Amino acid sequence: MKNVRHLFDISDLTTKEIDELLRVAEDIMMNRGKYAGACARKKLATLFFEPSTRTRLSFEAAMQELGGSTLGFASAESSSTSKGESVMDTIRTVSSYADIIVMRHPKEGAALAASQRSVVPVINAGDGGHCHPTQTLADLLTIKHYHGRVKKLRIGICGDLKFGRTVHSLINALTRYENNSFVMISPPELGIPNYVQHEILSPRKAEWTTCQNIEDCIGSLDVLYMTRIQKERFQSVEDYERLKNCYVLDAAKMMAAKKKMCVLHPLPRVKEISVDMDDDPRAQYFTQVTNGKFMRMALILKFLEDADKGYCPPPAREVIKNKFICENPACVTNAESDLVQLCTLRDATHNVYRCEYCESKVKKPF
Ligand code: CP
Repeated sequence: MKNVRHLFDISDLTTKEIDELLRVAEDIMMNRGKYAGACARKKLATLFFEPSTRTRLSFEAAMQELGGSTLGFASAESSSTSKGESVMDTIRTVSSYADIIVMRHPKEGAALAASQRSVVPVINAGDGGHCHPTQTLADLLTIKHYHGRVKKLRIGICGDLKFGRTVHSLINALTRYENNSFVMISPPELGIPNYVQHEILSPRKAEWTTCQNIEDCIGSLDVLYMTRIQKERFQSVEDYERLKNCYVLDAAKMMAAKKKMCVLHPLPRVKEISVDMDDDPRAQYFTQVTNGKFMRMALILKFLEDADKGYCPPPAREVIKNKFICENPACVTNAESDLVQLCTLRDATHNVYRCEYCESKVKKPF
């Protein structure tokens, strides 16, 4: 298969590249006409095996503003996967029609799996509860515009930190910038996944703490990133019902926040942000929506340009093939039987190996 650059998570971009994407997105905002024909005759395919409003439509709007065209389906039911076709065969097919593919799928690692059958760049638009890198680009641009920087900030992240894929990518990005510190606000059972702690926060020596109530920390924050409790990822309906309204941010709670704190949310919201907040100038979640389109325009330009140049960065780690089994039921390897199992050694001192698709710990390869 042709060696092409893909975007699985934000770690596939260097900090310099993220900064350049932010700069290009800002330039697009200021000079819309300059980019109007930049992707003429190029096609973007949107393959959404899970519901979406913002991500799919902003990618489509982004490509259309760049002068390109779009194709795709918006649900698995309307594609031939409903007849039993594998994701791998779907991707192989679509990659012969499009120049770039944007894919959302309920299984963790689905974008990595898809990339193995694609001759064009695959952009992860959300893979189960794992990652959502393009949302993070929108979040960074919003923080940068609001605070004038993406560093030296105290960031509260509130809600479902276990299944909230946007949170994992956001932490991965913000820990790259100096002197950011974090307050993880969640019930104990919805805390950050093991890999986020051990692969991102600890190695980068990030300052972070946990908290169970918004009221206990809101006054110290520069950014409050709210998230929805991810109903679709819960194994137990009772657990979801018990936790679904555990955090509600409203105008009364905002009284204790700094005048310059901003509130972000990747949306959709359910009840975790009261509509009485929406006219507060600190409420920046609809600005995130707007920014998402410009960041995705910058990203499409970059990945098509890299594909044209034949540029593909070398793999970050040596991959071990088919010498273990990933036991995470949410991993794509447990849905697509033909996939090669892939793992990497992440911590030689403690013999920690992780599945490359979903980043769960796996037993030492045999
Ligand atoms: N933020 C986000 O991913 O929204 P959608 O699910 O509507 O795409």
